[in-house]
Amino acid sequence: VVNRPHAMSQNPFYVGGPVAPDFFVGRVSEVNIAFDQILKRGHLAIWGGPGMGKSSLLDFLASPGSWQMRGLEPHRAIRVYLNCTDIHPFQPEGFWRSVLNNLREGVESDLELSGAISDRLAQPEVGKDDLRQILKLIGQRDQFLLLLLDDYDLALRTHEDYDAAKMLAFLSSFRNLAVHSREKRYFASVVVTFRRLSDLGPKLTADGSPWYNHYKFLPLKPFDENEVSALFSMPITPALHQGVREIADGHPALLQIAGDLLYHALRTGEMPDPIAFAQEFQSLTEQFSRSTWELTTPMEQMLMMLIALANLEGRLANKHQYDLGDLDLIFSQRSRELWDLEELGVITCDRHEGGETYRFNSSMMEWWVIKEIENSSETDLEQRKRLFLGLSSKQIEQISKVMHQVQQYQEAATSIAGWVGSLVKAFATGML
Ligand SMILES: Nc1ncnc2c1ncn2[C@@H]1O[C@H](COP(=O)(O)OP(=O)(O)OP(=O)(O)O)[C@@H](O)[C@H]1O
Ligand SMILES: [Mg+2]
Repeated sequence: VVNRPHAMSQNPFYVGGPVAPDFFVGRVSEVNIAFDQILKRGHLAIWGGPGMGKSSLLDFLASPGSWQMRGLEPHRAIRVYLNCTDIHPFQPEGFWRSVLNNLREGVESDLELSGAISDRLAQPEVGKDDLRQILKLIGQRDQFLLLLLDDYDLALRTHEDYDAAKMLAFLSSFRNLAVHSREKRYFASVVVTFRRLSDLGPKLTADGSPWYNHYKFLPLKPFDENEVSALFSMPITPALHQGVREIADGHPALLQIAGDLLYHALRTGEMPDPIAFAQEFQSLTEQFSRSTWELTTPMEQMLMMLIALANLEGRLANKHQYDLGDLDLIFSQRSRELWDLEELGVITCDRHEGGETYRFNSSMMEWWVIKEIENSSETDLEQRKRLFLGLSSKQIEQISKVMHQVQQYQEAATSIAGWVGSLVKAFATGML
């Protein structure tokens, strides 16, 4: 069953920031997994790219409605949401303080408990043990703490006053509370990050368990077909639906933006110009492409460039030839990175008898990658070349030649039409 949000008389689309729980669509299996962990007082680490719906999911888990829908009593769990970007710069002391502060706000009516928290907060230093003592009081009330930590990446990035040793100490104390303390029975948490926890934070050492091994891992992927249909409850033609999928795939934020633009177009009753529509969509969604690009590694970026280049010829009307040679070798050596890109919801691998082919999920991301090539300096290109371990110098030259051609023709900068083909065709046949 997919949650259905709304009637059509009002705009069903929701743009900007975490979606209000009333507009929350789909994610049935992720919510089930989260509740499984929470009710066991377990810990869950969710990761997903920009705009994939991480904060929305946390908000939904925090909402009383999501508990009532499952026949659970919301007040059993004291639900505390904390965005780690609010602790700036990130420091363990600030973290424990914010947790206690937010917790106090959530228990205002319980004077004894909020008084005990105030006493802890009045101390010059606050740490994990203060929370542990408060958990004991929460347990006595037959309640537990559900800590929902957004943008936890911040806790896993060193800076001037937060070096690797400090970070490791913080993570160990968190793990200690969750795994070894008596009060762990009154404590569950969900953390969200852009990348998998095991790829972030301090490197593992031979002694001791990994700092993250009390978490269950869950990637947040693009919406599936059912979820897209639930979100896109508007009556549009199958061709238009196809056009929207081409530009937005199952990306929740992109779908909502596309839906919102279409909704307004339908209301005016005028057929939008497809290129103007695509340009507006592109500019409204550019932030997601940019931040997805920025959070990938240089090797992943290189692979995205190769995939975009490999599909470039088919996209363009002016039929420039881009001969990259055989990319199978490099793709076979980089299956781990390609898998990570798939998990991030950026690309899809089509597996068939002849091997594997890769394609972008959203053509807007693909457009962005070509634009990145166009904007690369000569030094950027030289640096990227160094990533081609194991390729013959002939093939490296071939790839560089193609990159230079792309810079010369400026395909992405000059046209967006090649990336929104289905939409152009769909608009030509009407919207409804
Ligand atoms: N379950 C959902 N149902 C409906 N819309 C959703 C859902 N999840 C996400 N969205 C849409 O995607 C947009 C972005 O969601 P959200 O802010 O939760 O993503 P995020 O992963 O936290 O993004 P960021 O990486 O920027 O923190 C929302 O504004 C909403 O339009
Ligand atoms: Mg978010």
